[in-house]
Amino acid sequence: MHLSGSARIAPGGELEQGGVTASALAEQFGTPLFVYDEALIREQCRRFHRTLQATGLDYQVSYASKAFLCRALVRLMAEEHMGLDVVSGGELYTALSAGFDPGQIHLHGNNKLDAELRQALDAGVGCFVVDSLDEVARLNALAGEHGARARCLLRVTPGVEAHTHSFIQTGAEDSKFGLGLANGQATAGLHALLAAPHLEVLGIHFHIGSQIFGTEGTRAALARVLAWLAVLRAETGFAAQVLNVGGGFGIRYTAADQPQPLEDALTEIAGALRAGAAEHGLPLPQLWLEPGRAVVGEAGWTLYQVGTVKEIPGVRNYLSVDGGMSDHLRTALYDADYEVALANRMEDTPEGLYTVAGKLCESGDVVARDKPLPRPRPGDLLAVSCTGAYHYSMSSRYNQMPRPAVVFVRDGQAREVVRRETFEDLLRGQAD
Ligand code: LLP
Repeated sequence: MHLSGSARIAPGGELEQGGVTASALAEQFGTPLFVYDEALIREQCRRFHRTLQATGLDYQVSYASKAFLCRALVRLMAEEHMGLDVVSGGELYTALSAGFDPGQIHLHGNNKLDAELRQALDAGVGCFVVDSLDEVARLNALAGEHGARARCLLRVTPGVEAHTHSFIQTGAEDSKFGLGLANGQATAGLHALLAAPHLEVLGIHFHIGSQIFGTEGTRAALARVLAWLAVLRAETGFAAQVLNVGGGFGIRYTAADQPQPLEDALTEIAGALRAGAAEHGLPLPQLWLEPGRAVVGEAGWTLYQVGTVKEIPGVRNYLSVDGGMSDHLRTALYDADYEVALANRMEDTPEGLYTVAGKLCESGDVVARDKPLPRPRPGDLLAVSCTGAYHYSMSSRYNQMPRPAVVFVRDGQAREVVRRETFEDLLRGQAD
């Protein structure tokens, strides 16, 4: 198993993270447990800042809170000078409840409810990423009622899509997000925004996909957007102050994943923005980014306890853990691959292939398939790496599974940032 950040094998062969052993974590907080290496989250934020500062561009980097959100993380993001990207009233509420500066928040969403727009206007959210023509009208009216001038970006679909490890240019802009460049809707949207008295247009946003390994797609999208902006500038005089190129930076889940180093990706994107703006004679916009996975993905681990071990001769070996698709959906949903290890026996030799199954009532409830492991014993601890992004945030209570606890580890200390749900939590809100 690849060990990232502060993870190491402690004397005795135990997995240790942030100076705390897996067995100590399991004993204190129970399993399943999400464990985050706080120093690694901070280091990822700092890598973005260091690299972007070195480009000489004005920039803003906002954490995409959909990847994982809780109040402790919101505070950590503020300490690391990150902005915050939220996509719902609930994400906004969570950020505000932790005292995050609303001016550093931007609100996304292809179907922002009036209630969410009002909530964001009341809070003084720094930027609205406008996604549709109807939103232009609704936000303008609500901002007017509010006596505010709301700052906006227009989300466009540049006709470039990332398909995880590569990208394609699509003629048809078949997406529920944003307004198409090729079909004229983006131009109509920008005209509408410029004519809206209660809106101030800062610039343009696009996001071409997630878990992307190179910058080819982003650079292609940038080229299209800048060419379009040059035409618009000639027509309307509008000059974008901001270009938000979204998130999507890939991480290493397994050895098969070879993402480009973040530093190289950011430098290439910044270079493409500078060169493209110069080519079209445009004033150099600020570069805004909104990474989620790259900030928290590799810092997070899941710890489970091994229960039933079932060996089916000539077919497959299963080991079942005390969680599953309720806290680990990405394998069932995307066939995503993960590395696993017996956290209390890291130095034992693998003896066979084991499929890690969950305890939920679905055959597709699998955490990882056919992984080399020492012969597991009930009570062993199973660690899954790289579960920091889109795990807790996509967890469910299917089969009335209480959600796990989340702890941050650092310098030999573990602190619980989200407590484990109890059976009483499952009944909260239910009529007698
Ligand atoms: N900005 C926008 C507009 C987005 O839609 C997303 C992700 C991000 C930023 C952050 O992308 P990241 O840097 O995390 O790749 N549930 C899926 C991922 C869905 C991503 C949705 N949007 C998964 O588990 O892989």
